[in-house]
Amino acid sequence: MALLELSHITAGYDKNIILRDFNLSVNRGDFVSLLGSSGCGKTTTLRLIAGFSEPNEGTISFDGKDITHVPLHKRNFGFVFQSYALFPHMTVFDNVAFGLKMRKVPKAEIRTRVMDMLRLVDLEGFESRYPREMSGGQRQRVALARAMVIRPDLMLFDEPLSNLDAKLRVKMRVEIRRLQQELGFTAIYVTHDQEECFAISDQVAIMNGGVIEQMDTPAHIFNAPKTEFIAHFVGFENFFRLTRVSGQLTAENGTPMHVALDRSGDAFTGCIRPEDVQILPPGSNALNGIPGEVLVSTFLGRTVQYNVRTAIGEFVVKADQSQVYPLGASVLLELSANKIILINPSNH
Ligand SMILES: Nc1ncnc2c1ncn2[C@@H]1O[C@H](COP(=O)(O)OP(=O)(O)OP(=O)(O)O)[C@@H](O)[C@H]1O
Ligand SMILES: [Mg+2]
Repeated sequence: MALLELSHITAGYDKNIILRDFNLSVNRGDFVSLLGSSGCGKTTTLRLIAGFSEPNEGTISFDGKDITHVPLHKRNFGFVFQSYALFPHMTVFDNVAFGLKMRKVPKAEIRTRVMDMLRLVDLEGFESRYPREMSGGQRQRVALARAMVIRPDLMLFDEPLSNLDAKLRVKMRVEIRRLQQELGFTAIYVTHDQEECFAISDQVAIMNGGVIEQMDTPAHIFNAPKTEFIAHFVGFENFFRLTRVSGQLTAENGTPMHVALDRSGDAFTGCIRPEDVQILPPGSNALNGIPGEVLVSTFLGRTVQYNVRTAIGEFVVKADQSQVYPLGASVLLELSANKIILINPSNH
């Protein structure tokens, strides 16, 4: 049974409905990332789980109990939200110790746990400072320490590393993952950073239109996106129609198309990443060869990006610089059979 279950949730602000019949199921010990465009409802979802707000409809259950109306302070959840400020009048030590004091943990244990946690977030020696005497990134790390020190049943992270520089962000995300595995908490993590989320998650849930469009392992999402939206999200830029004609998948210009992973059905959207399309001289011998004309070429340093017009749509291609094609050049695109993904067109 799932540890956390959101069932048929409808929620929003006044008349503005953000989540519609939203479902999410998280297993104990999993690290789940929520991804989606700005404004799609990620923070709204975390706020519901934390208990900052209640849904209009639907239920939230945790460990088999209905917690839809259980107040925030009765859920043993930790959260690190972008806007959830530290207590300004308390030192770093007291900020981190706060939850332990509330839980009446003995003083000596509080000291050990707070100091251990501060070491983990690289803030040893900062315990007597006040939040106003620290940088944004340092404050964010105090917030992380404060949330995790209580050993929560569930940790909710809303872009917890957004104020950190790139190097510290990588260090901290590894640290969060390590802590999660060590302390065994279940985590839901919101980020805009795709690399970050793929690096640390057991499951990635991608939101679109107030629902989760696909929830899967990072590898599955990356290799087998189920919808065009998800495919866009993970770097597919070329989409073309395929229909089955006498058993053979065929492009709109009549070219027979071979795909390594065929599925049952007669109409699909095929998709392929720019780096999986080869650009060749016209007339080359190619499987899945589509003739085209170079519209734009952009020098990207290690690679050259071409926009190529073809009879089945415009393609974006990333190629090395071994041969450079000028604007207007006739070319042949080879769409690698084992890199084409088939998506149901109804799933747009
Ligand atoms: N307090 C509020 N009152 C009214 N509308 C709100 C409120 N908070 C958020 N919204 C609206 O609800 C929608 C979802 O907001 P939410 O904060 O959940 O998005 P998000 O996915 O977290 O976006 P981001 O990635 O930008 O943080 C947005 O359209 C937003 O404008
Ligand atoms: Mg948000």
